[in-house]
Amino acid sequence: MPTFNQAPVRQEINIQSPRRVIIRQPDDWHVHLRDGPMLASVAGYTARQFARAIVMPNLVPPVTTMAAAIAYRDRIIAALPLDTAFTPLMTAYLTDDIDASEIERGFQEGVLTACKLYPAHATTNSAHGVTDVRKIYGVLAAMERIGMPLLLHGEATDRHVDIFDREAVFIDRILTKIVANFPALKIVLEHITTREAVQFVEAAGPLLAATITPHHLMINRNAMFEGGIRPHLYCLPVAKREVHRLALRKAATSGNPKFFLGTDSAPHAVGDKETACGCAGIFNAPVALECYATAFDEENALDKLEAFASENGPKFYGLPLNENTVCLEKTEWRVEADFALGGITVVPFLASGLVPWKLSGRGAVTSDY
Ligand code: DOR
Ligand code: ZN
Repeated sequence: MPTFNQAPVRQEINIQSPRRVIIRQPDDWHVHLRDGPMLASVAGYTARQFARAIVMPNLVPPVTTMAAAIAYRDRIIAALPLDTAFTPLMTAYLTDDIDASEIERGFQEGVLTACKLYPAHATTNSAHGVTDVRKIYGVLAAMERIGMPLLLHGEATDRHVDIFDREAVFIDRILTKIVANFPALKIVLEHITTREAVQFVEAAGPLLAATITPHHLMINRNAMFEGGIRPHLYCLPVAKREVHRLALRKAATSGNPKFFLGTDSAPHAVGDKETACGCAGIFNAPVALECYATAFDEENALDKLEAFASENGPKFYGLPLNENTVCLEKTEWRVEADFALGGITVVPFLASGLVPWKLSGRGAVTSDY
């Protein structure tokens, strides 16, 4: 039987303009699966594409204990059909007074994979987030000691900072301090949106990595205002200028192992988006892999997709690579206008739009297609 180490599965992606790509199955290193009725229908869209996912803990109330993480993991698994091969990797939500020993025990016992730092009030359900990173230095020291990754929502929350500068300011004011004080801490700067973030990650040591979303590879900030306001393209960190999108594309397709896939798929009910004060978040789970394939194809870099989507993440987290494969074909298809998720209407990324690539299968080895 062919193994992946001996026999590369992607014979067809070295030709100039491939119409079919087979890669090791990817994982999603950043996703919001929500809870309750929405979780019940959202989880399947992620499990259809990805073998594992780092599940964000910004529920109401947030996941701050081992018991809460175990219960949430059980609810995710219960939401999927019995034979679904999908592993949720759980995270804890850092608060000013979170118990370092609970975090440590959660990691040692294999319940928690990482901790998420939301600066207080940075984004959806972040009211319980960290008000001053110095308040959790004890927790960060413990995480550094045990090798537990810190996942960052990297935006400064000072209201005087322009929303388009918040990521760069976070890097300057906060991330540089975390890196200096905890040189052995594994850090993922999540959903990066700027050239500054790309440059900072590139220049840092091997313990600092970043995830990149499909939407930040596809749209710049103009898209939010094309012909009128487009609430379904509003997320945090907000999309930036074109120059930043191009820097993200370059980073994602560079082959640099510090950059990997994280969709930040974040569904909200249509009424919570199309309103006077709409929520941040883009539901991209139904189109995520297809968007990545499209972006890589446009950059003539489909040969780099497997590293970005399926190898760099597990290597950073110290987890095994997936053994099975997925197949993507260059077949145009139209994205649904909306989804009814547990009775809640959610509009996906690229709703009603055409996407050139389509996920066409999932197999054990190449010959399964
Ligand atoms: O756009 C976002 N939506 N950014 C986040 O950081 C949170 C997420 C959500 O939970 O809706
Ligand atoms: Zn997120």
